[in-house]
Amino acid sequence: MSGDRVRVGVVGTGWWATQVHLAALLANPNVTVTALADTDPQRLERAAVHFGINERFVDPDAMFASGLLDGVVIATPHATHYALVKAALEHDLHVLCEKPFVLEASQGHELLGIARERRRHMLVGFTYQYTRHARLARQMIHSGKIGELLFVSGLFASMVEAYYRGNVSEYESVFNFPVVAPDRQTYSDPRLSGGGQAQTQVSHAMNMVFWVTGRRATEVHGWMLNRGLPVDLADAIAYRFDNGALGTMASTGSLRPGQPQQQEFRYYGTRGFLLQELIQGKLTVCMNDGTTESVPDLTAAETYPGEAVTAGWVDVIRGCGENLSDAETAVRTVEFIEAAYRSAARGSPVRIAPPSA
Ligand SMILES: NC(=O)c1ccc[n+]([C@@H]2O[C@H](COP(=O)([O-])OP(=O)(O)OC[C@H]3O[C@@H](n4cnc5c(N)ncnc54)[C@H](O)[C@@H]3O)[C@@H](O)[C@H]2O)c1
Repeated sequence: MSGDRVRVGVVGTGWWATQVHLAALLANPNVTVTALADTDPQRLERAAVHFGINERFVDPDAMFASGLLDGVVIATPHATHYALVKAALEHDLHVLCEKPFVLEASQGHELLGIARERRRHMLVGFTYQYTRHARLARQMIHSGKIGELLFVSGLFASMVEAYYRGNVSEYESVFNFPVVAPDRQTYSDPRLSGGGQAQTQVSHAMNMVFWVTGRRATEVHGWMLNRGLPVDLADAIAYRFDNGALGTMASTGSLRPGQPQQQEFRYYGTRGFLLQELIQGKLTVCMNDGTTESVPDLTAAETYPGEAVTAGWVDVIRGCGENLSDAETAVRTVEFIEAAYRSAARGSPVRIAPPSA
């Protein structure tokens, strides 16, 4: 670190890094953004000029080895995460990797081991844990308020289909893309994305469920619908938690600009249940004795605090914050998604092996 400031580099100067992370990092008084890397020189140049960053690398490894960084944000296509995170950790850098963490659970376990050995902080770019309601839901479940967990149901309907078609300009009016839209291959080419709705959206939903409940899945049965796309558009997944509780996760990326998104989660226990509506910013607690507790709603700005992720990671590096999107939970999400794809391909449930001691 230079003084109290964490020196941060960013790999992948595409849509999400330029729409959210770079602006948030540059506004953070505890950060100096020292360098950018992207294998596409044009995208690199565009972002570097827009944000006024002089040090630019088309080879991420050269940036990792440059001595300019304490930590790196990795915001590249899903299939590239494993090799980039591994190389960054091996240069003793702290890592914030975008979601989904990696495509295979074995890769995730390996990276957890390297981070532990090198004492590096690793955070994955899931956002919902940074909402007040996810933290409250977690506290209520962990304190036993709703009793023993019996059942969790999740619905996540969102607007992603055009990305799966490679038609990225269709969402221009929604996101405005201040610097650049996603590359058309990033979400449409399964070799880069590892899949569609499960990798891109179910990962967000289930990572929050695993974090809120503190549990992992042991068995998964998934059905997936592509409707002529190269990747899955809609997923229906049933699963079992490690305490025997059951869960369902339903997700479609077929919504159109202007339609209301629906992202609703219900956690049922032996003493009551929680209803969490992410878009409406509502959390309701319903106890078995008939009482209902109201929790103050989230403001619109609080429902998706994208900029909180880099701020949270920087605080963890500075020793003054808790990691709310830890890589251990992200690996449980990778296990779940990997099992869901395998189950959908073979048409039968897939068991997830317990973690080795
Ligand atoms: N947390 C969120 O809400 C959220 C939202 C959007 C995207 N994301 C995630 O952010 C990541 C990036 O998505 P995006 O939409 O910004 O994609 P993008 O296509 O806009 O950007 C990816 C960039 O990575 C570069 N790149 C590709 N391979 C590389 C490599 N090996 N080394 C260095 N650079 C490389 C590409 O040239 C491109 O500029 C993905 O993991 C995505 O799921 C997260």
